[in-house]
Amino acid sequence: MPGFDLFDQREIDALADVINRKMVHRYSFNDSRDGIYRVEEFERAVAERVGARHALAVSSGSASLYVAMKACGIGPGDEIITTPFTFIASVEAILECGAVPVLAEVDESLNLDPESVEPLITERTKAVMPVHMFGAAADMEAYGSLCADHGLSLFEDSCQAMGATYRGKAAGTFGLWGTYSLDPYKIITVGEGGLIVTDDEELYRRMEYYHDHGHIHDKSIDRGAEGKFCLGFNFRMSELQGALGLVQLSKLDGALARLKGIKRTVVDAVADLGLSRRVHADAEGDSATQIVFLLPDEASARRFQKASKEAGVGCGNLSDNTWHYARHWRTLAEALPDHCTVERPRTHAILSRTAVYGLSVAMTEEQVEKTVRAIRAGAAAL
Ligand SMILES: Cc1ncc(COP(=O)(O)O)c(C=O)c1O
Repeated sequence: MPGFDLFDQREIDALADVINRKMVHRYSFNDSRDGIYRVEEFERAVAERVGARHALAVSSGSASLYVAMKACGIGPGDEIITTPFTFIASVEAILECGAVPVLAEVDESLNLDPESVEPLITERTKAVMPVHMFGAAADMEAYGSLCADHGLSLFEDSCQAMGATYRGKAAGTFGLWGTYSLDPYKIITVGEGGLIVTDDEELYRRMEYYHDHGHIHDKSIDRGAEGKFCLGFNFRMSELQGALGLVQLSKLDGALARLKGIKRTVVDAVADLGLSRRVHADAEGDSATQIVFLLPDEASARRFQKASKEAGVGCGNLSDNTWHYARHWRTLAEALPDHCTVERPRTHAILSRTAVYGLSVAMTEEQVEKTVRAIRAGAAAL
C-alpha cells in the first residue's frame, strides 16, 4: 500500500524545485515567490479530486482530526461516538479537545456498526465519527440518517481512505468534514501530512485560522502585520510536502488500479474455496489496500493463520492488532478509568475471526501467486 513505493524522479524533481527556489514556507514571501504556492495548489487539487469545496493541508492526519474538531467547538462535556477498531489518533484527537470518546461496536464491514451507535446517544453527544478502515468506506447512508434523526454532526475519519468511494462519491465528503492522512503507510504519502475537506465555508475559515495561530492569511499584508482572528497553534504543512503531495496525488489513480487489480486476481483465484470476506458497504469503491477473510470462529482463524505462514505468507488476526484495536490501548483505559471500557464483545468476536493480508503496489506477480497459495493452505487447514 505505501505511497513511497511510487517514489521516482518526479518526487525528487519536485523537492529539488522547492529547495532551489528556497521557498519552503507556505505563507509569506509573497513578493518574491513568483506566485508559486505548492501547498495551495495541492489543496486545490485534492478538493477537486474528492469533490469538496475546500481542502486544508495540515501537518499530519492526527492534526487534521484535532484541527477539525477544535474548529467545530468540540470541548469538555462533549461526547463523540466512534469505533473501537481504528488508529488511536481518532480517540486521541477527541481527548485532546477535552471531550470523551464513546466506543460503539463494529459489524462485519469492520467499520462502526450504525445500530450500535443509537443506544449510546446522550444529551452530551455532539457527533458520530465513523472511520473508513483499511481503505473501504463505511455505510454513509446509515450514519447520515442517524445523525439527521438525532441532530448530531457527522464527522469522517477517512485518514486511511484516500481514493475510496461510497456510491461513486469520495469517502470523507459525506459528513461535515473528512480527513486524510499522508503518513508513510498510506496509499499516497508526503512523509508526514494530513488534509481536511469540507463544503462548509465558515468552518473551513475557522480551521484555516486555527491551524496557523489564528493568522488571517491576507497576501496583501505582511504576515507579521496581518493580525489574527483567534488563538490557534501550528499545524502548517510546508512547501516540501505540498510539492510532494502534488506528485503523489497524480499517481493515486495508478495506485488504485494496481491495488484493485491485485485484489481481483487473488479473490478470483481463491473463489472456489468459498471463504467469507469482510462485508463492503460499497465493494466497487474499496481502495483494495487489504483483503480480509472472515472465518467461522477464532480457532479456525488461528489454524488458517498458522498454515498461511507455513506456506510462506503471514496474515494478521485483527484481534491481535495493537495499533488498531482499542482493547490493547492500556493508555486509553488509564486516561478514562471510570468511563471507557475498551472491551467490546461483538467487536472482539468479529475481529478474532479475521485473517488479513496487506496488499502493495510493489507486489510482484510471484508474490501475488505466493499469497494465493498461502490462502489455499490456510483454507485447507480449516
Ligand atoms: C484511522 C486513522 N486516523 C488517524 C490517523 C492519524 O494519521 P497520522 O499518522 O498522519 O497522524 C491514522 C494513521 O494511521 C489512521 O489510520
